[in-house]
Amino acid sequence: MVSKLTPKLLKYLIISSFSLIILYTTFFTLHPPIQPTPSSSKPSISSQSHCNLFKGKWVFDPTRQKPVYDYTCPFHRNSWNCLRNQRENMGKINSWKWVPEKCDLFRVDPVGFMGLMRNKRIGFVGDSLNENFVVSFLCVLRVGDLTAKKWKRKGAWRGAFFPKFNFTVGYHRAVLLSKYQWQPKQSRDSGKDEAEGTYRVDVDIPADDWAGIADFYDVLIFNTGHWWGYDKFPKETPLVFYKAGQPILPPLGMLEGYKAVVESMAAYVQREFSRKSLKFWRLQSPRHFYGGEWNQNGSCLFEDPLEESQLDSWFDPSVNGVNKEARKFNRLIREAIQGTDIRVLDFTHLSEFRADAHPAIWLGKKDAVAVWGQDCMHWCLPGVPDTWVDILSQLIHDGLETR
Ligand SMILES: *[C@@H]1O[C@H](CO)[C@@H](O)[C@H](O)[C@H]1NC(C)=O
Ligand SMILES: *[C@@H]1O[C@H](CO)[C@@H](O)[C@H](O)[C@H]1NC(C)=O
Repeated sequence: MVSKLTPKLLKYLIISSFSLIILYTTFFTLHPPIQPTPSSSKPSISSQSHCNLFKGKWVFDPTRQKPVYDYTCPFHRNSWNCLRNQRENMGKINSWKWVPEKCDLFRVDPVGFMGLMRNKRIGFVGDSLNENFVVSFLCVLRVGDLTAKKWKRKGAWRGAFFPKFNFTVGYHRAVLLSKYQWQPKQSRDSGKDEAEGTYRVDVDIPADDWAGIADFYDVLIFNTGHWWGYDKFPKETPLVFYKAGQPILPPLGMLEGYKAVVESMAAYVQREFSRKSLKFWRLQSPRHFYGGEWNQNGSCLFEDPLEESQLDSWFDPSVNGVNKEARKFNRLIREAIQGTDIRVLDFTHLSEFRADAHPAIWLGKKDAVAVWGQDCMHWCLPGVPDTWVDILSQLIHDGLETR
């Protein structure tokens, strides 16, 4: 074991000291420390805005700086708090660094970033994968303002206020984005079978949770996708799609309905939200259930990220595997938001590698795995979403600078 590991480790050490030297020289020439002052002072991160932060590879770097937060962050959600739940390999999980092809990705500087966001608000709208993202965002930013307080208003499900910067981050839970409600079956012998019925989805009406926020946020991040399956909405109690108050005919299947919702909601955002706000739509987060679905003992007990050559066999829709849906949904999202000023946050590819970084069986509750199966869908925190945060904060920085 040891003799096998040592040359590998040595190689990593050599490579990583080289990249550290390169990193430091580039960092200090290109990136003077960001001052906590409003946008007028222009740190030069945008000098690399030509590069594609979504394309690259994970590089193992055992000397990588530790995550900036730990299990004590007050914004954690228990089942994702992998340090507290004593998930194995947390040190290893957080030693992988995402390296884009043509540039470097830097860790967000919370003080500098919130200086840029002074008197501003950022809103996330969508399902629990956006919530997973928000928790990481809040825990990272809190390092720059330990007086951060929990915040909830305007239909927000959770969020935080950072007093030092008068800066707010909110998360609005809206799993389908559109409004949906349970409609029990109408039958003559009424009240007989409450379990029969359909879910009515009004594709052109936003869910109440975020209906009133059009003027509230300066930056918005939308997503939906992880509830669009027959495990959430079985065929016996299906989604039925409505537009302008009328059922859409012929009735739409799950994917067609998804397309209709994303198109209508993107159009709604384009129409109702301020042109000045910066808008993002984040693509699907890939799942890593191996050997079966979540309710069929599907598992993700992996020690290392996947290799690039393995990704298609996991995620290509033509393979028809357990985890194929993310790329399918992504195609529909890209089509639907074309022609709007909403930008794509493509975290799919970089996350596809990280089969090693889910909470898996370490959920912090005794019977959780027996009841819910492993969690190979959400991400451990600290972990992969911290890289999403680094990318998002850089894109916000660039986006605010170019307007
Ligand atoms: C704090 O920010 C909000 C907008 O997010 C703004 O309306 C308010 O005036 C700001 N307060 C102060 C004291 O600057
Ligand atoms: C899951 O594993 C348990 C215990 O090994 C077994 O009893 C059960 O049949 C399995 N379920 C499926 C759907 O494979």
